[in-house]
Amino acid sequence: MKINLANIKKAKNLLNRRECVAIPTETVYGIAGNAYSDIACRKIFKLKSRPKSNPLIVHYYDLKRLKNDCHLNIDFLKLYKKFCPGPLTFILNLKKKSKISKIATNKKSTLAVRFPKHPVTRALLERLQFPIAAPSANISSRVSAVTSTEVKDDFGEKIKYVLEGGKSSIGVESTIIDLRKKPEILRLGGLEIKSIKKILKKKMFININPSKISAPGQLQVHYSPGIPIRLDVKKIKKNEAYLLIKKKKINKSNYYFLSKTGDLKEAAKNLYSTLRKIKKNNYTSIAVSKIPNKGFGRTINDRLLRASKF
Ligand code: TXA
Ligand code: MG
Repeated sequence: MKINLANIKKAKNLLNRRECVAIPTETVYGIAGNAYSDIACRKIFKLKSRPKSNPLIVHYYDLKRLKNDCHLNIDFLKLYKKFCPGPLTFILNLKKKSKISKIATNKKSTLAVRFPKHPVTRALLERLQFPIAAPSANISSRVSAVTSTEVKDDFGEKIKYVLEGGKSSIGVESTIIDLRKKPEILRLGGLEIKSIKKILKKKMFININPSKISAPGQLQVHYSPGIPIRLDVKKIKKNEAYLLIKKKKINKSNYYFLSKTGDLKEAAKNLYSTLRKIKKNNYTSIAVSKIPNKGFGRTINDRLLRASKF
């Protein structure tokens, strides 16, 4: 993707003035603000109607800059070397001298850290004097945005600027891993667990539905398009939209395919846009056919299950 430096400059100037801008990432778009500024972080929470207790992910250009704010460990370094920049978020311990806003962390002693790969946002991060806090660009508990148009649909005039970056190539949020003790997955996402396991060569604990919520991506109702969803459906009801993983021979106007061939990565990429499209086309409920529960299929099923609690 060609980088438009005038756009980067515009986003940079707004962020320097503690305003929020939407940024593209390879997972989903984010609502970004200066992570060192209480004022900017408060604006993010307000824009998203996000509960104050839900801490923000902070995005860095590289390891060198992260060292000011967090304690690193060996597992982190191994994964950083292999997957960063990329769709993986780490939970690390904050340093006492860190300048990260306490509004961003809700006064926690830990920080969620990510190094996004999208070239436009990397060009922006490289030019800033601070890391950026950026939760997914959606109203709290709803489907994330994967294009600039979807961000504008959700936020309208309320967001000062949307930095254009095309459609997010992965289409679901980053995988979150807590690396403070034994590796623990807190959210399934854009990087498969088996890829992480291959590098760490350790047992991976999966804690995506804990009794005590530490990441609201773990909340039961989340990622909802705003209409009811039924899962594992073989026979749809009258007037329902039917969401299918693979293109079928019979094509009806209410059939929505996530992939031509049943490819789970492609399906994940199309998931959120398709949910939004169905809602836009005025359907009042969605039936989902069975989706294989492996690889990215697990992430898709995780999101659909939470969306179905609406
Ligand atoms: O792909 C992504 O991760 C996108 C892009 C924009 O980077 N961001 C994103 O942010 O999904 P958000 O805020 O929608 O989800 C971040 C998740 C939330 O569930 C939050 O509770 C959790 O990360 N989180 C943040 N700080 C945490 C911490 N210190 N410990 C545990 N979970 C944390
Ligand atoms: Mg989110």
